[in-house]
Amino acid sequence: MRIGTPLSPSATKVMFLGSGELGKEVVIELQRLGVEVIAVDRYPGAPGQQVAHRSHVIDMTDAKALRALVEKERPDLVVPEIEAIATDELLRIEQDGLATVIPTANAAHVTMNRERIRRLAVECDLPSSKHAFCSSLAELESAIDAGIGVPCFVKPVMSSSGKGQSRITSRDGVATAWDYAMAGGRVKQPRVIVEAEVKFDFEITLLTVRHASGSAFCEPIGHRQVAGDYVESWQPQAMSAAALEKARAMAKRITDKLGGYGIFGVELFVRGDEVWFSEVSPRPHDTGLVTLCSQYQSEFALHARAILGLPVDTSLRCPGASAVIYGGMDAQGIAFEGLDEALAVPGTELRLFGKPESFEKRRMGVAVARGQSVNEARERATRCAKCVRPVAPA
Ligand SMILES: Nc1ncnc2c1ncn2[C@@H]1O[C@H](COP(=O)(O)OP(=O)(O)OP(=O)(O)O)[C@@H](O)[C@H]1O
Ligand SMILES: [Mg+2]
Repeated sequence: MRIGTPLSPSATKVMFLGSGELGKEVVIELQRLGVEVIAVDRYPGAPGQQVAHRSHVIDMTDAKALRALVEKERPDLVVPEIEAIATDELLRIEQDGLATVIPTANAAHVTMNRERIRRLAVECDLPSSKHAFCSSLAELESAIDAGIGVPCFVKPVMSSSGKGQSRITSRDGVATAWDYAMAGGRVKQPRVIVEAEVKFDFEITLLTVRHASGSAFCEPIGHRQVAGDYVESWQPQAMSAAALEKARAMAKRITDKLGGYGIFGVELFVRGDEVWFSEVSPRPHDTGLVTLCSQYQSEFALHARAILGLPVDTSLRCPGASAVIYGGMDAQGIAFEGLDEALAVPGTELRLFGKPESFEKRRMGVAVARGQSVNEARERATRCAKCVRPVAPA
């Protein structure tokens, strides 16, 4: 592997499709290695664009616009940071040898759709919740009656961060869940997955890195979700040796099927020694923000190194935790106060993402904390995040 000089003919060029807070951290890691970075998003001033060499604003679901930009920039690597991309075009870009797509164009294509992910999980023989795919309200009702039962989850096949997703506890909620999924799905395609509820003790993200000399696992990350969005995560999540072994075997099987180099977030449900597969994404995971303090190489550093074909080290540095900071208001150009008190909490760090526009429930920053134990780290991260007060612009 060689890396050239940025902004010269020898440059090693990496283009990000999506430049949010997770992309921003990977961009910083690549900048440290002297890589030339091009950050693409659908709006100007996205977090990753603020630290890249240059940026572009395009609709990444527009195949023509995507192709034209890749032809203009000729990056060595294309790194999808979000799911909502014209992945058919990524397949053609890869086929035509225009650029290497991370981890592979097919992985981006498969994982943007819950139906394709589930089919792959079934092919890999991974235990997962009982489920069905439905293209109408009538189909959904009969799937629930025919064995899925309640409580269950209804999700658009294409959506992320809990959008269009509901948990229904009685047969009366089905029509509302269907309408909600239709309004919240990414594509105006009437298709949902309905999943029986898994009664888990806890859920984990098992970060798995595929790199030049094999696969490596990070310590399991525990997290708490509210309405499909993570609010708090910690590492390591304690689990039985048997469950950990199963989790790693499952993560290995599905990430090997997806192939390529880079980090994958494998989401699993755990009860005792039992493990269920939930989903997988071929990129840094939001719950993995905790690794900024809990690992020697964060998930962002691991991704940067793996995609460049460089060696990685997934070892834990110390117990850690992260707590999300929300905008708390709908406004442009907000400010944050209370940072001095926040960072006076021992062992803490803050990331403020610099998003130009705040929404009440938009993730605008994160507090991360180290501790002697996971409990201490969680208490510190939560206390630190609570001190940060978003305020309206003067
Ligand atoms: N079948 C299930 N049984 C129990 N809990 C579930 C099930 N499906 C989803 N959940 C809960 O809802 C959360 C979000 O579900 P899922 O990960 O499928 O959605 P998502 O929109 O992809 O969310 P994200 O993008 O934040 O990962 C899960 O982390 C879990 O807490
Ligand atoms: Mg998820």
